[in-house]
This record gives sequence, C-alpha cells and structure tokens, in this order.
Amino acid sequence: MAGRRTAARGGLTALLLPLLLTCCVRCARSKPSNIILILTDDQDVDLGGMTPMKKTKALIGGAGATFVNAFTVAPLCCPSRSSVLSGRYPHNHAVRNNSLSGNCSSPLWQKGPEAVAFPVHLSKQKYQTFFAGKYLNQYGKKDGGDVGHVPLGWDQWHALVGNSQYYNYTLSVNGKEEKHGDSYEKDYLTDLITNRSLSFLDNRSPQHPFFLMLCPPAPHSPWTAAPQYQKEFGHVTAPRDGSFNKPGKDKHWLLRQPVNPMPNSSLSFLDDAYRKRWQTLLSVDDMVETLVKKLESVKELDNTYIFYTSDNGYHTGQFSLPIDKRQLYEFDIRVPLMVRGPGIKPNQTLQAPVLNIDLAPTMLDISGVNLSSVNMDGQSFLSQMAPSLRNGTARPFFLVEYTGEGHPTTDPACPKLGPGLSQCFPDCVCEDAYNNTYACVRTLDGQSNLQYCEFADSESFVEMYNLASDPHQLENIVKKVDPTVLQTMNQRLIKLQSCEGDSCRDVK
Ligand SMILES: *[C@@H]1O[C@H](CO)[C@@H](O)[C@H](O)[C@H]1NC(C)=O
Ligand SMILES: *[C@@H]1O[C@H](CO)[C@@H](O)[C@H](O)[C@H]1NC(C)=O
Ligand SMILES: *[C@@H]1O[C@H](CO)[C@@H](O)[C@H](O)[C@H]1NC(C)=O
Ligand SMILES: *[C@@H]1O[C@H](CO)[C@@H](O)[C@H](O)[C@H]1NC(C)=O
Ligand SMILES: *[C@@H]1O[C@H](CO)[C@@H](O)[C@H](O)[C@H]1NC(C)=O
Ligand SMILES: *[C@@H]1O[C@H](CO)[C@@H](O)[C@H](O)[C@H]1NC(C)=O
Ligand SMILES: *[C@@H]1O[C@H](CO)[C@@H](O)[C@H](O)[C@H]1NC(C)=O
Ligand SMILES: *[C@@H]1O[C@H](CO)[C@@H](O)[C@H](O)[C@H]1NC(C)=O
Ligand SMILES: *[C@@H]1O[C@H](CO)[C@@H](O)[C@H](O)[C@H]1NC(C)=O
Repeated sequence: MAGRRTAARGGLTALLLPLLLTCCVRCARSKPSNIILILTDDQDVDLGGMTPMKKTKALIGGAGATFVNAFTVAPLCCPSRSSVLSGRYPHNHAVRNNSLSGNCSSPLWQKGPEAVAFPVHLSKQKYQTFFAGKYLNQYGKKDGGDVGHVPLGWDQWHALVGNSQYYNYTLSVNGKEEKHGDSYEKDYLTDLITNRSLSFLDNRSPQHPFFLMLCPPAPHSPWTAAPQYQKEFGHVTAPRDGSFNKPGKDKHWLLRQPVNPMPNSSLSFLDDAYRKRWQTLLSVDDMVETLVKKLESVKELDNTYIFYTSDNGYHTGQFSLPIDKRQLYEFDIRVPLMVRGPGIKPNQTLQAPVLNIDLAPTMLDISGVNLSSVNMDGQSFLSQMAPSLRNGTARPFFLVEYTGEGHPTTDPACPKLGPGLSQCFPDCVCEDAYNNTYACVRTLDGQSNLQYCEFADSESFVEMYNLASDPHQLENIVKKVDPTVLQTMNQRLIKLQSCEGDSCRDVK
C-alpha cells in the first residue's frame, strides 16, 4: 500500500525506500544501548547511606545488580571524579586534590586526560550526550577556563560552577553563565537536574543512543533538603557500632589526635549531619523514580543501562573523627554501586571487587568501543553483571592512593594546632593533613581480604588489616604479621603505584 502510493508520487522515493528500510533495520539492530550514570557526592554505603533510597534500591538494585564490594581509588571528590571520567588511577591522571594547583579541572587536566575521557569516546560512537550537576570542584572558576570551558564530548552541558550547593549557585549552560537563587520551585539543584534530563529525553533524536551523566549535590554539605523532606528522620542518629567513638591508638599520626570519647557537642553535630544527609537523598530517590518512569513511557527502559554510584564514602564518628572522607578505612573508600540494564538478571548481589576506574571501561564496552584502543587503568565489569554477554575475570589486587590536603598556615580557630592541617571542625579535630598521604594495596577474593597501607609521613607509618576477621579495622596487625607477607604486599604496592593500563590489571 505504502509502496504503491510512493511509486505514484515519484520514482526517486520508490528507488530510495528499500535502501532506507535496509538502513533502518541495520541501524535498529546495531544501535547500542543507552547509558545513564548517576553519581552522587559523598554518599557512604557502609554506614547506612543507601537506607533512605527505597525506590532506587527497588528500581535499580531490584531490577539488576548490587555490587557489595565497590571502591573508589581515592576518597576525595576531585581525584575520584577525575578517575571516573578518565578510567585511570590518580598517579596517571595527575589530579591530586581539590585545588587547581593539584590539577582539579586545571588547564593541564583539560588538555590531557579530559580530552580523552570516556564521554569523548561515547560521542564518537554517535551517542547524544547530556551532563547536569556537579562536575569537578574547580570547574568554571576563572583560572580553569571560566564557564566558557565545555569539555569535549558533551552535546548538552549544565554544569555547576565549583563545589556542591543546593541554592544560590551558578551553572555553565553550554558555556553560558546562568545564575540561580533560592526558590525551591525554580532552583533546587537536584530537581533541576531531573527536570533538564527529562527535557533532553523529549528533544533527543531517536536514531541514536543517549548517554546521561547526572551528578546531584546530595548528600554533600551544606545538606539543604527540599522543604517537604526537612522533617524526615527526626529520630535517626548516626550508627553507634563498629569503630564509632573508638580511639585510633594504633593508627597513623592524624588518627591519634581526636579527643576520645567524643564530646557531646560533636556527637550532636554529627547526628544532625547524618540526618540531613539522608533528607537530601530523598530528592535523589525521586530523581531515579521519575527517570525510570520517563524511560518506560518513551519505551527506552529495556534498552538502557542505569548505573548508580558515588564519588567516595563518608564517616560520622568512626575512630572519633566527627565528619569527613579522606581516610583509608572502609567507610571512606567503599561506595554504593547498583546497575540495571540489558542482560543483567534482577536482584543479583555481586561480590567481585569493582573500582570507580572500571566505570568508564564498562560503559565503553557497552557502547561497542574496542577497549584495547583506549588508555585506561580500569577494566570492564560487564562480564560480572551480564555473563551471557561477556566472559571475564575479577582482579586480584587493587590500589587506593591519596594525597593529603593541608593549609600552609595555622587555623586561626585552633591556635594550638600547627600548620599543615585541614578540616579542623568541630572541636579542632583535624580530618586531613599534608602528611595524611598514603597508598594501600587491597586483596579481596575467596581466599584473603587484606589491606596494606604505607604513609608518606615522618614515621613512614604502616597499617595492615585482616578484614576477614576484623571488618571494622580495629586492630593494626603490622607488628604481628609474618614479615614475608608484608614484603609481598610492599612489592605489589610498588608495582601498582607505577602501573599503567594493562600493568594495573595484571599484578601478580
Ligand atoms: C527482587 O526481590 C524483591 C525482594 O525479594 C522482590 O520483591 C522483587 O519482586 C524482586 N524483583 C525482581 C525483578 O525479581
Ligand atoms: C598536574 O598535571 C601535570 C600534567 O599531567 C603534571 O606534570 C603535574 O605534575 C601535575 N601536578 C601535580 C601537583 O601532580
Ligand atoms: C541566597 O542568597 C540570598 C541573597 O544573598 C540570601 O538572602 C539567601 O539566604 C541565600 N539562600 C540560601 C539557601 O543560602
Ligand atoms: C521541576 O519540575 C516540576 C514538575 O514540573 C516542578 O514542579 C518543579 O518546580 C521543577 N523544579 C525545578 C527546580 O525546576
Ligand atoms: C553527654 O550526654 C550524655 C548522654 O546524653 C549524658 O549522660 C552526659 O551527662 C553528657 N555529658 C556532658 C558533659 O554534658
Ligand atoms: C581490538 O583492537 C586490538 C588492537 O588494535 C585488535 O588486536 C583486536 O583484534 C580488536 N578487537 C576487536 C574485537 O575488534
Ligand atoms: C564464556 O566462556 C564459555 C566457556 O569458555 C563459553 O562457552 C561461552 O560461550 C562464553 N560466553 C561468552 C558470552 O563469550
Ligand atoms: C594541592 O596540591 C598542590 C600541588 O601539590 C599543593 O600545592 C596544594 O597545597 C594542595 N592543596 C591543598 C589544599 O592541600
Ligand atoms: C604530620 O604533620 C603535622 C603537621 O605538620 C606534624 O605536626 C606531625 O608531626 C606530622 N606527623 C608525621 C608522623 O609526619
């Protein structure tokens, strides 16, 4: 019928129609899956950070895989996010801290790793790409190219200038400055990210797959919840188990400083932070629900991978440290990770260790990029979650590396403390210092669950934990353990600290 009508209208269309049809069938068959990456800011998994996310757990974890051993390779926003984008360890992407001088969104980062980050490859695979929310802590600042700098690979760009905020922020909207105030209906950042992602989905072209990266500020400070959630969790307090309010007496220098037991003022401060963090996450839970419903209504849900994770963990009172990340312990380096999508069976709990540097290779694997053509340290975990699509092996060892942040001068609020420290709040308990610089090797498989860390401080301090028998890292076993084990771990650490690409995956 259609064919005859076209033939009557003109010979050229009649000639082209079969060609067009063949192309469409071929395109439809080979169109790769859509991908969405939701990356929150400072969401722990070890201390209950996923508890308020009921809808997210059902809609992503329940419909797919929950990785119970997911780690960041650096527990601080900018180095971690740079690892997510580049698929590389900090010693290879060279972003060491949250400052421009530590390469956070610096011109050298922009010219180097950012120009070959995974969105660039997705764009080459004809993905329509969309970014909204917090990017890198120094993004959009004057010395980092201002809001005019839009990284390569993005078709739609709605990036926050600077660090996480909920109101009164500036965005770069495709390179143009857009200022926001504090009206909930117009400006609440988590909701704005949701709304703009829906518009993007409405306006996309159906011929090509899409990639969305959504980076809400939650649950980072200043913990501003949406008005309707500010009374939630009134009786919730930070969990009192594990290493909560314990002294860190056999640990590195910084952990021997906090007052123990913690003063009541610190406890009420951290309980308040804990509660408000959960409140801010309720808007992220809404985001996930809204997005899943939208994908369903545009018939893309079954062909979309959704990754949900965070840049680093967080602690509230562990080893008597009030609130922060930046430590080598489980609560700071473990992150939530759930994935749903084609080939992933529902309700799976997966034990294989995966890292934030694996996200980029996994997404590129899904998009059809040949991974030997990209220079990344991570590896695809598609085989772990969808064994019908890929075969693969888990990695036996991995690296966590962190460069401590400090201030060159004494904190005026804490005159008794010397220079070189930072994050000394509340009660002048410092969460970081220049010499909180460490590298750890972690083994995690059926046989062993060990962590070995070396500090670059004046004591060359070493910490080692057997997490199988001591999951809360209460006892540093470095003086007890067989010296040959220490030697093996030290050698692996040396190899990992200078690894690149394949050599990061094949350490023996
Ligand atoms: C996943 O498990 C939950 C709880 O057991 C169940 O309610 C849900 O229906 C399961 N989901 C799927 C897709 O099988
Ligand atoms: C910043 O990146 C450049 C280029 O990779 C590197 O040479 C430099 O050492 C890095 N800076 C720091 C503080 O690591
Ligand atoms: C936003 O800025 C205005 C003007 O400076 C200020 O009055 C208001 O309190 C700020 N709102 C928030 C939530 O910080
Ligand atoms: C997001 O969209 C909803 C529904 O249209 C609207 O009520 C809300 O005010 C919007 N929020 C922002 C921050 O744009
Ligand atoms: C701290 O709080 C506990 C429990 O609420 C209370 O028993 C104790 O007296 C308080 N200590 C101080 C110094 O206020
Ligand atoms: C991927 O690229 C490598 C190196 O260029 C090549 O040897 C290999 O055959 C390619 N694999 C596929 C599946 O195309
Ligand atoms: C995985 O490996 C097994 C055994 O070698 C093989 O039978 C299977 O076809 C492979 N699956 C995929 C998806 O490559
Ligand atoms: C970040 O790293 C740079 C380069 O090592 C250093 O100069 C700067 O002091 C660091 N920033 C902080 C806050 O520690
Ligand atoms: C770490 O740095 C602080 C502040 O500069 C200093 O007081 C302390 O002695 C240092 N500790 C070690 C073990 O290097």
